[in-house]
This record gives sequence, C-alpha cells and structure tokens, in this order.
Amino acid sequence: MKDASLLPVALFDSGVGGLTVLKALAARLPAEDLIYLGDTARLPYGTKGRDTIIRYTLRAAQTLANNGAKMLVIACNTATAAALPVLREHFAPLPVLGVVEPGAQAAARTSRTGEIVVIATEATITDGAYQRAIARIRPEAHVRGRACTLFVPMAEEGWMDGPLVEGVAWRYLEDLFTPAAPAPRPDTLLLGCTHFPLLQAALQNVVGPQVRIVDSAATTAASVNEELARLGLLRAGGRTGDRRFMTTDNRNRFARTGSLFLGGPLKDSDIELVDL
Ligand code: DGL
Repeated sequence: MKDASLLPVALFDSGVGGLTVLKALAARLPAEDLIYLGDTARLPYGTKGRDTIIRYTLRAAQTLANNGAKMLVIACNTATAAALPVLREHFAPLPVLGVVEPGAQAAARTSRTGEIVVIATEATITDGAYQRAIARIRPEAHVRGRACTLFVPMAEEGWMDGPLVEGVAWRYLEDLFTPAAPAPRPDTLLLGCTHFPLLQAALQNVVGPQVRIVDSAATTAASVNEELARLGLLRAGGRTGDRRFMTTDNRNRFARTGSLFLGGPLKDSDIELVDL
C-alpha cells in the first residue's frame, strides 16, 4: 500500500482567496505537495444560501478527494462556516480542517480586552460560526460581526488601498471604530474572509493603529502542521513540494488575480481547468 504521507494536502476555496492560506502552508511545510482548487465559476459563495454552499463545497471536495489527498483544508471561511461538519462526516476518515477555528484562536489570543470585531461575508456572519468559535475559546469575549460584501470584488480587482477602499471600509466600520463610538472600543479586528488580508493596510488606516488586525492563514498552517504530525502524515523534508492549481473557470483570470493573493507569479499554463 502507498505511504499516505506521500499524498498531497488538498486545499479548497470558492476562488483565488484561499491562495493566502496556500502561501502560509507552503512557507510552513515546504516539503508537502499541495493541490488547490478554486471554484471561480460559482464565486462568490458568500452571498449564497447555506444549502447551496454545502452542495457546491461537497462537489468541489469530492473532486479533490478523487485526486488522492491525505488531508482536506477548506481555505474558505464561507464554506467552512456552512459545510465543515457535513464534509467531515461525508469524507471520514479523511481529515478535514477549516479556517474558522484557527482564525478564532488567533483573535482570542491577540485581544487584550476581549472586544473583538469579525468581518466576513454575509453568509459567514449570518451563520455565526466565528462568534461561536471565539465564545468556546474565550467565553467572556464580546464579539461583533459585520458583513463586508464589497471587499471581495474590490480585492479581486486589485483595489487594495487608496481613498475609495478606505471610504468603503469606513462606511462598513464607522459606527464600530469611530472615536465617538461608546466604550468599550474593539481592540482586535479579525479578517474572517480569504480576501480581506489584501486590504489590511487600508483597514489599519481606517480602524486606527491601536487596533490589532489578525487573520487565519498562519494559524491554519500551524493547525495543519500539528494535525499531520499527530496523524503521522508529515512528509519528510529535504525537498520542495509540487504545487498544482485547478480552477472551474477562466484560467487566465485565475492566474492574474491569483498572483495578487499568492504574492508571486502564476502562469495560466500552470492552471488546470476542471468541471465539477
Ligand atoms: N472565500 C470566501 C470566504 O473566505 C470569500 C469569497 C466568496 O464569497 O466566495 O468567505
């Protein structure tokens, strides 16, 4: 039987945003082979209903599982919030990790006062997954959620800073972060969406330097490392893993926007078009 540690770690996102998680994972576990699927044909997931998100995520995860993987990482906050328990049940014993728990840990650890604001897609905020996850880790924390729908297309467009981005951010966040807001003021802003780390500098300008901004990419990579080690599935070092990219639509756009999230070049010839 093939040594399971030699199989790739499979990552899924609704689009290119999860490449921020792939980047963190490649830095943390360079020897691992990584295979990534972005369901760009159906993006955005964040404005869709729960049943639709579960249906889409199951299909995408099945495609990755069919390719052979030792672990499935749902590098999409919306899909994690809606579908993680369903995926775990459906694909058992394949280990399935999401980004919500690691993101919640990062925020709970970072906040001094326990006043936390999580920003994410409408579906993630409505589901309340982050609010519940933080409450489990730090029950006294006061968590407020805010859907910031327009940040997704802005990041995809490469609009990451400047007055327009800050204006939109201010419109979403003003009542929570204005100096005139009633105390207690939030001290931590959790980016609960794959796209939002690209806007971090603009968001910092809007919320002010005293607010700490955290996301789930690094903590997810740490969780994957921990879980692979626990299962005896870590790949031996001394090599650089393969990176394989799949998309459900428009390889050219995936390469263009994906390179923004990856922070490095991606060619359309590196990307495979798949149908789910
Ligand atoms: N990947 C999604 C998330 O992290 C954002 C994009 C979408 O709405 O599909 O929530």
